[in-house]
Amino acid sequence: MNGQDRRISRRAWLAGAGAALAWSASPARALFAIMDARPLPASVEALISQMTLVEKAGQLNLLAAAWAGGAAISLNPAGAASSFDAQLRMVRRGELTGVFNGNGAEMARRMQTEAVHRSRLKIPLLFAADVIHGLRTVFPVPLAEAASFDPDLARRTARAAAVEASASGIDWTFAPMVDIARDARWGRGVEGSGEDVLLSRLMAAARVEGFQGSGLAAPDAVAACAKHFVAYGAGEAGLDYNSVDVSERTLRDIYFPPFQAAFAAGAPTVMASFNDLSGIPATANSWLLDTILRKEWGFGGLVVSDYTGDEELIAHGFAKDGRDAARLAFLAGVDMSMQSGLYLKYLPDLVEKGEVPLARLDEAVRRVLAFKVALGLFDDPFRRIDPAREKARLRPPETLALAREAGARSIVMLRNEGEVLPLPRSGKRIALIGPFAGGGHDLIGPWNVYGTDREAVDLVTAVRETVPDTTMDDGSNLARAVAAARAADIVVLAIGETQNMSGEAQSRTEIVVPAEQQALAEAIAATGKPYVVLLRTGRALALSGAVAKAPALLVTWFLGSQDGPAIADILFGIVSPSARLPVSFPRASGQVPYYYAHRNTGRPNPPGTLQPYKAHFRDYPNSALFAFGHGLTYGNMVYSDLRLSSKTLADTPLTIRATITNTGRMTATEVVQLYIHDVVASVTQPVRVLKAFTRVTLAPGARQEVTFALTRADLSFIDRGLAPTTEPGAFRLWVAPSAEAEGLAGTFTLT
Ligand code: BGC
Repeated sequence: MNGQDRRISRRAWLAGAGAALAWSASPARALFAIMDARPLPASVEALISQMTLVEKAGQLNLLAAAWAGGAAISLNPAGAASSFDAQLRMVRRGELTGVFNGNGAEMARRMQTEAVHRSRLKIPLLFAADVIHGLRTVFPVPLAEAASFDPDLARRTARAAAVEASASGIDWTFAPMVDIARDARWGRGVEGSGEDVLLSRLMAAARVEGFQGSGLAAPDAVAACAKHFVAYGAGEAGLDYNSVDVSERTLRDIYFPPFQAAFAAGAPTVMASFNDLSGIPATANSWLLDTILRKEWGFGGLVVSDYTGDEELIAHGFAKDGRDAARLAFLAGVDMSMQSGLYLKYLPDLVEKGEVPLARLDEAVRRVLAFKVALGLFDDPFRRIDPAREKARLRPPETLALAREAGARSIVMLRNEGEVLPLPRSGKRIALIGPFAGGGHDLIGPWNVYGTDREAVDLVTAVRETVPDTTMDDGSNLARAVAAARAADIVVLAIGETQNMSGEAQSRTEIVVPAEQQALAEAIAATGKPYVVLLRTGRALALSGAVAKAPALLVTWFLGSQDGPAIADILFGIVSPSARLPVSFPRASGQVPYYYAHRNTGRPNPPGTLQPYKAHFRDYPNSALFAFGHGLTYGNMVYSDLRLSSKTLADTPLTIRATITNTGRMTATEVVQLYIHDVVASVTQPVRVLKAFTRVTLAPGARQEVTFALTRADLSFIDRGLAPTTEPGAFRLWVAPSAEAEGLAGTFTLT
């Protein structure tokens, strides 16, 4: 028992021995262990005992805010239409636990006033929102930020987002999205951290810590919600919402760990995913929500459905009607229903008819109330609702500066032949060409509820700060674009995906640069002018022709409020690129799902030419065009002197050292990566798995030793009995600049 648990118990003890016993066995205690370890006031149990069935179901009913049309409605399929006044009436009757994607502190103030002054039990409302990559200050899309390979950056942007959001009355964010995404056709990979387990785990934990700051009760904290549980990124063919059929081993190896990391970091809530898992929708999957989440992991927090996820059990062919859907989702373990209204409508009757035990209803209500206590809402329901504070905290200069820093740290330089970059700050005529050169659109990226392109800075605006006479052409007319290129010394070509090409329900069958823009790139390349491609994208793309062969190629994603300035910082060498691909860029759409940590097959094609009867496509080797982990800097990094502390790993960690030297002419930051391969195992293992990475910043000519430590635990995998294990034997390792670069290779034996 830790100190805080003891304090809770003593508190409970004072309320009577029976209460103490009840407390120590209660799910609420587990909830507080995971949340903030604040004592649950005895008044909560008293409250539950006074609640009607409708009021109980009301605590489990979350709706999109209806104020001013409701931002949420525009982001989701139109739900149960309800007006703000209708929602206020529901609040008064105790039929609503809170709303999401609302519209700021004034709306929250009016609703909360209704709840705490005019409802019978005065239970405070909860305000949730999709704060995925910032509120009004928009940070890079999460996939871009993962490219920084810098969890601390993610912690800082999540903190800043929470400071803004909490001042707008928001208590709870539906983030981080921690779904591993290995199929680039899926549009929602943009909301997560890419294909790798380690990177996703570290980013998940960092974001949770950032959102929750010093603790859930802090007025500037927002509670995190790990989503979407689980394997939502594994939908067949990358089609959004599609069926998932992966093995339990793959769940445990790949899809579970980022959730476990989020919970270990203190995430008190989790959202069930839309997909089914081998025929059982996640929203009604008691193996997932009870056997694994509650029993195996001891998760005491709150499970919320996704938007109408319970109602969708009908379309899945799993529930026969709304009543059945509510019963199935609730009994499987979904505590709170988002947007369908089904819990409010049916749970009271289901309990009365004995189809749902009252104890299960009380348990879910207790979790919600405990969550509200942990958020400090019973102490002060208005702690995050203050219109004056809201105004002061929106888009302050330091938060915008952080967005710019995060943007520059998210840009991945894939190629820079003949050092086209950085661009000279004077003496050359620059033409910015392409749909994303200016015009102030497609800057903030998918899944941002509150930010606007209008408040973001585009490329041409930022570039002209440094080179005022830069010309710009939107590329819509090829002849005109070519003329603009001819009149310049260097072309910066801003092409790629618009922001509605990734995000929810935006799966693509071909992950390529749109045809008109490919044609534009070919025309520009044909002028013979040196050109830099800036690639706007929310996913890995299969690049070809003049884009793949561009002398300089930068992946610029969607960087948010400071998109243009962040790109300009890299273009002009104010900041050296340091980001790495968090997803493999394959050679062709047909390779997808392609990820670096694949298994070898019995017939791998050795590096080099394609051999008959080997695992490759007729037309391509099964490797990446640009590998996971790849990214160049303005320095020139040389890897040397791999040294292992031992030839064997037993109970003391193995220390791995290497020297990195910057032989280039500019200071730069290198992301040095450690990969391993378990050569022979009772379950075949991936060709490489990332085990650690570190950033080193080196001035020209400087060298530095990097050190990694590998422990036995780092070598574990999920065995045939579905438990983590390690097996003695040979391992290979690489200290390398990407998942498919040779780097420095070594071997050791686990004894
Ligand atoms: C998405 C969730 C989101 C919810 C509320 C759903 O469509 O899948 O990620 O949190 O809407 O906006």
